[in-house]
Amino acid sequence: MDIKNNILETIGNTPLIRLNKITQSLPCTVLAKVDYFNPGNSIKDRMALKMVEVAEQEGKLKPGGTIIEGTSGNTGMGLALAAIVKGYKCIFVTTDKQSKEKADVLKAMGAEVIVCPNNVEPDDPQSYYSVAARLAREVPNSYHMNQYDNLANRQAHYETTGPEIWNQTDGKITHLVCTAGTGGTITGVAMYLKEKNPDIKIWAVDAYGSLLTKYFKTGELDENEVYPYFSEGFGKTSCPKITKWM
Ligand SMILES: Cc1ncc(COP(=O)(O)O)c(C=O)c1O
Repeated sequence: MDIKNNILETIGNTPLIRLNKITQSLPCTVLAKVDYFNPGNSIKDRMALKMVEVAEQEGKLKPGGTIIEGTSGNTGMGLALAAIVKGYKCIFVTTDKQSKEKADVLKAMGAEVIVCPNNVEPDDPQSYYSVAARLAREVPNSYHMNQYDNLANRQAHYETTGPEIWNQTDGKITHLVCTAGTGGTITGVAMYLKEKNPDIKIWAVDAYGSLLTKYFKTGELDENEVYPYFSEGFGKTSCPKITKWM
């Protein structure tokens, strides 16, 4: 029998699918790792589960506890799934830039969702970073996952996404093209692939207005060159500890 014990066991092992039409003129094979096949509909399920497991192992998340996280929605979805299976409560802090539908889905999954203004500095007390940190101090038996600084985020991709891509391409992958938000995906997958073959090129796709590209190219964190952008999930306008990973 092939039975999953719960929905969390369906995370990962997503398909790698050949892109046929839009790549017709290219002299190479282009494949898409389609991670919206995960139960929470995004790649973030992988790291959400890993962050919960590590927090449990380290005794930071205790039975009946509350998971607190700042999330544009996708990490929240993964955390909400884990919370339902494992019996935790969730409080998610998001911004008014994110789609209302995502907040509604998180609420339907039993989470409390707090919407903060997007147009404030990260250290402003109203920012979603500050509110999540404050709640973690105030809510009893709670733990702030903090995907930006949490190395379990990168580890999830080192342990799952990277090996899957390597195995699915039979080690023939030459280039990885990937967005960076927290940077967990690109750094974790890159670490694994580079261990297997240091010649593999890792290409990050950044949002216009995000500070990651300039930091990567010059080592300078130039917050004056940060502009508002509409994309959800990728790009960064402040500097998570992730930059130490890149
Ligand atoms: C759907 C989706 N893809 C990619 C990313 C960026 O991935 P990472 O945070 O691992 O850099 C995010 C981040 O929130 C996301 O929600």
